[in-house]
Amino acid sequence: MSNAGQFIFLIMQKKVLDLIGNTPLVKLSGFDTGLCNLYLKLEDRNPGGSIKDRIALSMITAAENQGLIKTGSLLVEATAGNTGLGLALVAMARGHKLLLVIPDKMSREKIIHLKAMGTKVIMTRSDVNKGHPEYYQDMAERIAGETKNSWYVNQFGNPANPLAHETTTGPEIFRQLDGKVDAIVCGIGSSGTITGLTRYFLKMKPDIEMVIADPAGSVIKDFVTTGSFGEAGSWKVEGIGEDFIPPIADFSLVKAAYTITDQESFTMARKLLKKEGILAGSSTGTLLTAAIKYCLEQTMPKNVVTFVCDTGNKYLTRMYDDSWMIENGFKTE
Ligand SMILES: Cc1ncc(COP(=O)(O)O)c(C=O)c1O
Repeated sequence: MSNAGQFIFLIMQKKVLDLIGNTPLVKLSGFDTGLCNLYLKLEDRNPGGSIKDRIALSMITAAENQGLIKTGSLLVEATAGNTGLGLALVAMARGHKLLLVIPDKMSREKIIHLKAMGTKVIMTRSDVNKGHPEYYQDMAERIAGETKNSWYVNQFGNPANPLAHETTTGPEIFRQLDGKVDAIVCGIGSSGTITGLTRYFLKMKPDIEMVIADPAGSVIKDFVTTGSFGEAGSWKVEGIGEDFIPPIADFSLVKAAYTITDQESFTMARKLLKKEGILAGSSTGTLLTAAIKYCLEQTMPKNVVTFVCDTGNKYLTRMYDDSWMIENGFKTE
């Protein structure tokens, strides 16, 4: 075989896990972004459909390397769904079993997808906070503690979570914009994304502005702007917003934070589909609303990046369904 032929053959040898990361970056053209260029990094293009594939690969690989798990171990995790899908993908390839504890507000599509992958799913209450025995994270930790040959993945405290973004997401953004990136708008779930990006850009471009998009009801914005927070409320956007400050959080480069309502988020996600043809998840509506607000406030041209963290296919029976929008008071007709 010729050298070129061998190269093509090697490319075709790629496994599914090799497709994680190296996601495209697109420039938005259908929105008024003032003096700024606004780019979306399409994390829905990961094989599990979300940004969480990156951390699933990183956390499982680290646990294997540290001898915390071996073939056949049971992995237990608390997740809004996307981390679960990423873990299911990697666990399947590496011969591990998986049990997930998921709050009951999460979309049916994610649960159906997970069960179809052979994952055991335990649903728990969405209306209780940290410290309650039925809170999804407390429940997952307890189950892992009570089960032999199991490991609590714990994306909220696992250093391999931010490491995935420090070593992949950050360098990709830097490379894709030739280093000319001025601000990144992030949502906060486990805080792995913002923490990893912060660590990378502290080394590469410490004057970058990190911007937080936070659902109304979450405590993150209050914490970063005032240093304290009260009791959390509830919100319907999935995957971002918290009722506590994740232990791995690094907010040291945060220059602005915006509170975004569910109504704004869902309306913006639907607008993104209509204007640009991008079918994104509910949190993309939150991030994009905050990113546009930030862009319009700038008095100098800036290159701003935000994320399509997951695909809108997971929300077809929710925010993309007019009946659901009307029933939930987000649309009148
Ligand atoms: C659906 C979804 N999951 C997760 C995240 C990021 O979460 P984390 O803070 O856990 O990295 C985002 C960020 O926007 C998101 O939209």
